[in-house]
Order: sequence, then structure tokens, then C-alpha cells
Amino acid sequence: MLIKENKIWDMSENLATPEGAFLNRRELMKAAGIGGLSLGIGGFMSSSAFAEVDPTADLYPAKRNEAFVLDRGLTPEDVNLKYNNFYEFGSHKQIYNNAQKLQTRPWEVMIDGMVEKPMTIGFDDLVRKMPLEERLYRHRCVEAWSMTIPWSGFALKELVKLANPLSSAKFVKMETFHDPKMASGQKQAWYPWAYTECLSIEEATNDLAFMVTGAYGKPLAKQFGAPLRLALPWKYGFKSIKSIVKISFVEKMPKSFWETLNGSEYGFWANVNPKYDHPRWSQATERVLHTGKRVPTLIYNGYGDQVASMYSSLKGRTAFF
Ligand code: MTE
Repeated sequence: MLIKENKIWDMSENLATPEGAFLNRRELMKAAGIGGLSLGIGGFMSSSAFAEVDPTADLYPAKRNEAFVLDRGLTPEDVNLKYNNFYEFGSHKQIYNNAQKLQTRPWEVMIDGMVEKPMTIGFDDLVRKMPLEERLYRHRCVEAWSMTIPWSGFALKELVKLANPLSSAKFVKMETFHDPKMASGQKQAWYPWAYTECLSIEEATNDLAFMVTGAYGKPLAKQFGAPLRLALPWKYGFKSIKSIVKISFVEKMPKSFWETLNGSEYGFWANVNPKYDHPRWSQATERVLHTGKRVPTLIYNGYGDQVASMYSSLKGRTAFF
């Protein structure tokens, strides 16, 4: 593994949204002299640099919701940016360069299935309809490593409200884009593309289920699954699907990407539990990235108070697998 594991890891939480650490769109326009003066030859910023400014940059940093607290320091941004799972761009952790090929505009999200009115909505319109906030969340992969991240976004239940599902809808299924020309990993035909994940309606309307549009006080970096991904901090990370293009409300429990690939290793619920090991990774402890520390795993990744009641009718391993 290429991650440097040094022991200085206590980045303070107020470093998560460094004011002035980036230029938002308005500031860029001001700095570039646009909106009053035009860009002159030899101006310090070229118009092509301006063209790459994220059209939602003015929304960040979003106001932090102080209800979501952590018991440990944040994973530094540069560590997180270079250690990712995004199989569309390679089946290893250093996909950050390849992921820059992801074209995030235009980006549309289709909402269909058992809803009052199916719709396709541009991501830039969607994000401006939603109440954005920042939340500090744990992130735990079934490979037994973990991070802590300042995500920005909105509660998934707000999107469920917008979609207005019929009472017969029991599950929310989400899909990533499918474009093997752009994402070379999708040329690997043995994977069941497109990446698909699913959760129950009850889970989708739990306050913890979060649609992520930004991280570290900025619009989402491509390797994190721009422009729209999910974060379900009480579940293993593979449930947190990236670069979502389709959200369907359905009656029957669908199979996810990993369940289709290997149903004996990956189940539907995938709730974190130190007692039930994955066939290849013990879940008793987790390696906290960039700290050199291994700590005990917490049931539901420490979020039991908010989520355990959803699984009271499931017994034993079934509630977690
Ligand atoms: N979503 C898509 N579309 N493709 C992926 O390969 N990997 C999953 C999940 N979402 C994945 C995905 C896995 S296995 C994990 S652990 C997390 O994304 C990793 O998120 P991170 O790279 O932001 O840490």
C-alpha cells in the first residue's frame, strides 16, 4: 500500500472548511476581473481556467450541522484524495489520476419507478433545490480501513420528498453512469456494470442517509464520486455509491453490484459489526488511515442509537450481512 502512515493525525475539525483555502466562483470572477472589466491578454487567469470552475462552487463551504460529531480527528484531505475505491477507474486505490477523466457536466439524474411523476433533473438545479449542510462522518470499508470526512450535501430524505414515491415503493435503487470510453475500468466485462446499490425506504428516510455533493468545504472531487454520491456511515463503504445518474423507487429488493458479483461475500444490509467477519477481512478492528492505529470496530460503526431500531425484526448475522 502506498499510503504513508505517519503518526501525526490530529487535524483539528476547524481545518475541514478552511475559509479562503479555495476561490469560489464569485471570488474567481472578482479576481479575474470579470463583471466590470474583461479579461485582458496577460491577465493572471486564462478563460480556459475559468471555464473549469465548478458551477456550484459558490455553495461551499456549507454550514456545518453540529449535531454530527466525531470522537477522532479528520483524515487529511490529501490522504483521502489519494486512497479511493472507484472500480470504474481501476481496481486499486490510486485511481485519482485516471478519475480526472470523469466528465461531470452536463450531469443529469433520472428519478423513476414508483413515483408520482418520474423526472430527469440537472445536477446543478437539483443541488440548488436542496438544503445543503456539512456533516462530519466516519467512513468504514469492509476491507477494514477507515477515515473521517467532512462531507457536504443534503439528507437523502429531502430527495425522497422531491420524488414523492407511491406507498408501494419499498426500496431505493441507485445507479452510477456507464461509459467504458471514459471509464476504462468498465471495459472489464466480468464486472456487472453499471455499479448499483440499494437501500430500503426506511433507511433512505433515516436522517443519517446523506447525499454528498462536496467534501472538505468544496464541490466533490472526481475520485470521491462527483458530482453526487451517497454516504451511509453505519454501513460498509461499498453501499455508498458514487457518481449517481439514476434513482429508482421499486417494490422488490434488487441486487447490488457486489451482491451480483459474489453473493456469498456481499449481502444487502452490510451493516458494520465487529462480530461478523467478511470471508477475507476480520471486522474485529479497523485501521484508521494516516494514524498508524488499529482500533476496535463499533457496531453500526458507532451510529447504533440512530439506526439499530430499523433492524429489530432481523435476527443475528442476517441484520448485518
Ligand atoms: N461507487 C462506484 N460507482 N464505484 C465503486 O467502485 N466503491 C465503493 C463505494 N462506492 C465504488 C463506489 C467502495 S468499495 C467504497 S469503500 C467507497 O465507495 C469508497 O469511497 P472513497 O473512495 O471516497 O473512500
